Amino acid sequence: MSDSRASAFAQVIDDRRSVRAFTDQQIDRRLLETVFSQAQRAPSNCNTQPWQVAVVSGEQCRKLSGLFHEQLQNNHYQMDFPYTGEYKGVHRDRQIGAATTLYGAMDLERNDKAGRHQAFLRNFDFFDAPHAAFLFLPEHFGLREAADLGMYAQTLMLSLSAHGLASCPQTALSFTCDTVRQELNIDNSMRLLFGMSFGYEDKQHPANNCRTPRAELNECVQFFD
Ligand SMILES: Cc1cc2nc3c(=O)[nH]c(=O)nc-3n(C[C@H](O)[C@H](O)[C@H](O)COP(=O)(O)O)c2cc1C
Repeated sequence: MSDSRASAFAQVIDDRRSVRAFTDQQIDRRLLETVFSQAQRAPSNCNTQPWQVAVVSGEQCRKLSGLFHEQLQNNHYQMDFPYTGEYKGVHRDRQIGAATTLYGAMDLERNDKAGRHQAFLRNFDFFDAPHAAFLFLPEHFGLREAADLGMYAQTLMLSLSAHGLASCPQTALSFTCDTVRQELNIDNSMRLLFGMSFGYEDKQHPANNCRTPRAELNECVQFFD
């Protein structure tokens, strides 16, 4: 592999990060089709390509956002896949590290519960992005195929990054799965794993002024000779 190819790829990986504020500029339809076509090249178990993806834009995003807030105000959470967000040990430490980085950039104190809640609620505004993708897994598929959706999502995010676009994968967008299915007329056999907001980064917003840390290589990877 040539050095320039490797360094271009390293740049794409490095550029990708979770962006939590977008401009209202919509992505050109042809570019939209390009990035989703590239994501189709993601690998999957037996090439089953189990991802079913609903892409919403513009007014449809705003309508869904209104419905989400309505549901959450009524404390109506419904998830196809259980999620508590509670981690232990080293995973809890890393979770705290990410939250400290993000809230630090936004100047939110640790005990500012109201401020943090407001920041959390922005998930359901798609962080103002004009586009979002909802990633569904057909029922009867399990953990292995869920991993395929993860690979699909990363391929999509890298393609977005390579084209100067930004994204944020969001478990939060699966918190009212029935609303998404109903509004988009999606069959009940499709289970919502997570969503993703994407578009052009708002470079002025403090939420985007941070970079999450990573564990040392030897904490996660062991080499055996
Ligand atoms: C499947 C998945 C779900 C996520 N859900 C959320 C979410 O609901 N809200 C959010 O703000 N970030 C969410 N994130 C972003 C993570 O917090 C982020 O990837 C992590 O802190 C590493 O930071 P980076 O993506 O900027 O490198 C999610 C990431 C993944 C992969």
